[in-house]
Amino acid sequence: MASHSPIPQLGLGTFGRTGDDGIAAIETALDVGYRHLDTAQSYDTERTLGAAFRNSGLNRDDVFITTKVADTNLSATDFMPSVRKSLETIGVDQVDLLLIHWPVPEEVVAFETYMEALKRAQDDGHARLIGVSNFTIAHLERAAKLLGPGSLATNQVEIHPWLQVPTLRDYARSAGLQLTAYQPLVKGQVAEDETLKAIARELDTTPGAVALAFLMAEGHIVIPASSSRKISRTISERPV
Ligand SMILES: NC(=O)c1ccc[n+]([C@@H]2O[C@H](COP(=O)([O-])OP(=O)(O)OC[C@H]3O[C@@H](n4cnc5c(N)ncnc54)[C@H](OP(=O)(O)O)[C@@H]3O)[C@@H](O)[C@H]2O)c1
Repeated sequence: MASHSPIPQLGLGTFGRTGDDGIAAIETALDVGYRHLDTAQSYDTERTLGAAFRNSGLNRDDVFITTKVADTNLSATDFMPSVRKSLETIGVDQVDLLLIHWPVPEEVVAFETYMEALKRAQDDGHARLIGVSNFTIAHLERAAKLLGPGSLATNQVEIHPWLQVPTLRDYARSAGLQLTAYQPLVKGQVAEDETLKAIARELDTTPGAVALAFLMAEGHIVIPASSSRKISRTISERPV
């Protein structure tokens, strides 16, 4: 299924890409063609992402940037200051996509509190698109009732060849909601998967590229992480 999402279907996950090595890894990814970068308040990579983006010399419009509000910043008092701090740390006026990283129990912060704050962040111009992460179908239905159908651009969840979440996938398709697959390479373990290795041999590519091609054919956005120029290039040049 082809993607018609406003979110580029291939993005770079930046978890673990901190410090100078992190900046270099993200710069490499931009150099080989990635135009979508995924960070979060809790990754400590908002700064490295911003530095790599500026070093790349690319225009702001050329690169799609996602960040996520941490579960510790979901209260009415903490939400908006944390978003403004993210923008300052990345060094941009607006992110392309702002996500709730994880839902929290009602007794910690009410669902309505952080979902309405998310919408306000969009209305205030801090985020072009809004979405969620690690939401169940029940959370998504509640969000659609609260904010209206189509308000959310994506639900970012763990999806890979070993975890295909067909029930959530079918729900998302029927609701017109794009899923973003995190840990699409099972943290590198796809390289040892015998089925993916056999397909990769036949197609003269890598098991990682096969895994991503499969997920993208399912219609998902994918955000693999890599610090390797060779791997980044293989994936960005021929994911399918
Ligand atoms: N929303 C959430 O709650 C959530 C949770 C987890 C992750 N995420 C996002 O998802 C992104 C991706 O997840 P992830 O980084 O945990 O896991 P991943 O993308 O599944 O795997 C990354 C690891 O795989 C290795 N690798 C890359 N390409 C490979 C290939 N072709 N063959 C074999 N190994 C390969 C990389 O090693 P090298 O660096 O050595 O290349 C890296 O250590 C994160 O960076 C983050 O942005 C979101």
